[in-house]
Amino acid sequence: MNNNYVRIFDTTLRDGEQSPGATLTSVEKLEIARGLARLGVDIIEAGFPAASPDDFEGVRRIAVEVGNPPEGVDDPDYRVPTICGLARATQKDIDAAWGAIQSAKKPRIHTFLATSPIHMQYKLRMDPEEVVDQVREMVAYAKSLCDDVEFSPEDAGRSDPEFLYLVLGEAIKAGATTLNIPDTVGYTTPEEFGALIAGIVEHTPGIENAVVSVHCHDDLGLATANALAGIQAGARQAEVTMNGIGERAGNTSLEEVVMALKTRQPVYNLETGIDTTQITRISRMVSNYTGMPVQPNKAIVGANAFAHEAGIHQDGMLKNNSTYEIMKPETVGLHRSRLVLGKHSGRHALRVRLEELGYGLEGEELDRAFQSFKELADKKKTITDADLEALVEDLMDRVSEIYSLDGLQVACGTIGLPTATVRLLGPDGELHIQAAIGTGPVDAAYKAVDEIVKVPNTLLEFNIHAVTEGIDAMGEVTVRLKAKNGSVPRRTSPQSGRTRARTFGGYGADTDIITASVKAYLAAVNKLLAARERSEVFEAVISQPIAN
Ligand code: KIV
Ligand code: ZN
Repeated sequence: MNNNYVRIFDTTLRDGEQSPGATLTSVEKLEIARGLARLGVDIIEAGFPAASPDDFEGVRRIAVEVGNPPEGVDDPDYRVPTICGLARATQKDIDAAWGAIQSAKKPRIHTFLATSPIHMQYKLRMDPEEVVDQVREMVAYAKSLCDDVEFSPEDAGRSDPEFLYLVLGEAIKAGATTLNIPDTVGYTTPEEFGALIAGIVEHTPGIENAVVSVHCHDDLGLATANALAGIQAGARQAEVTMNGIGERAGNTSLEEVVMALKTRQPVYNLETGIDTTQITRISRMVSNYTGMPVQPNKAIVGANAFAHEAGIHQDGMLKNNSTYEIMKPETVGLHRSRLVLGKHSGRHALRVRLEELGYGLEGEELDRAFQSFKELADKKKTITDADLEALVEDLMDRVSEIYSLDGLQVACGTIGLPTATVRLLGPDGELHIQAAIGTGPVDAAYKAVDEIVKVPNTLLEFNIHAVTEGIDAMGEVTVRLKAKNGSVPRRTSPQSGRTRARTFGGYGADTDIITASVKAYLAAVNKLLAARERSEVFEAVISQPIAN
């Protein structure tokens, strides 16, 4: 690989999914992984398989389905991303990671252990010699299973550089081929982080045979600047997430690093394998599935990133776009209001357009999409790319439905009590009908759903917005909720080892916003129910012997 190439290691499905509230089902993870493969990322960190049943199953499915060429394709040069699983530096975690990724064409185990004085003393309660021994032993163990091993000294940003050179040198000797340098708590400045990487490149024994990687967090809003400083100092892999989601303030944004390298090519003189026209689409998908809206002023993917409001700016733009625009919106795949299909468009036209948008739907999935498309076309005259994306994501979020919406009626306004009647099709094939009153129509409908499904939960977040402009626009709703009374197993954080309550996101889109709200709520409730069921299967799968 040429030395001007920066590998993009996407950790949306691992560090990103560790964001408070961003829980994805294995089906959603698979869809996002497919999107990331289309985007052209080099490595997908698909999860932390030892964390939970969903993580193990999510990673395993991605390894099988995204980490291999599609069936019938025998071209040896067909490009698939490396599929990576995270593991603490323990045999049990490494076994789980290997169990989940081994069927990928290009599997990678990523193992880590903290090296900062604070972490070694208070978290690990290990002295530096013990840390070095464990790194040596566990990297070698990972290497005995998998050829491609990445090692991260956690909290490298606050570690002693001399100690890092030693630990990294031992990791290389034990078989690590990628050395990832995390600024775990987002503490460093760009100058410091750049100098840290430069020092590692200069002083680590054997580093010339390894790839140095950067992994930054955004606690001080410096994640992108730090990652770019590290790249300028010689790192050739960037660990990033879509929309910058991640622990606490998040990780470095994929879109920011990629677009900085591309837009300021003469400064960096580096390249990536990313098809930037896919950025907007995958950003929306991640936001919808995680239930985490993108802030409007977010660089590259925020709703206002290419909007020009001030009169003086608009005047300049009309004269010449380059007056206020450093990137063309099309470069990141933004042509949102393009009219694509209408009432008379057929199934074939829909399939082709969806394919162009990156959704390869066939068979039953395509039938369902076509049916929804026709229903939408009856209500809405013009159907844009944005409408189609909302429609497909709405369908995807309902693929593993336990309860589905069969009918809804609401009464609301200034007279009388807001009332909703909900009819759901249950897992038993029976129709369940329930009416409830609430503070508004959405509250009433959610109470009626709760009466039927009987899964006590707390609604943490509710967001609604229009997909396109106009009175007939589709509304899209994202919700996030968590189970009450511990009915769903908690998740383990790879770094702290602590567990926390899981939350579930749901997405719904419809021209009727109350219907969209109920769809979103049901999607989240169904995920909660499914997680409860899957937790039993996990123990059985993970205790299977690991094939070498
Ligand atoms: O931030 C961090 O240190 C991590 C490691 C597991 C790489 O996410
Ligand atoms: Zn991290």
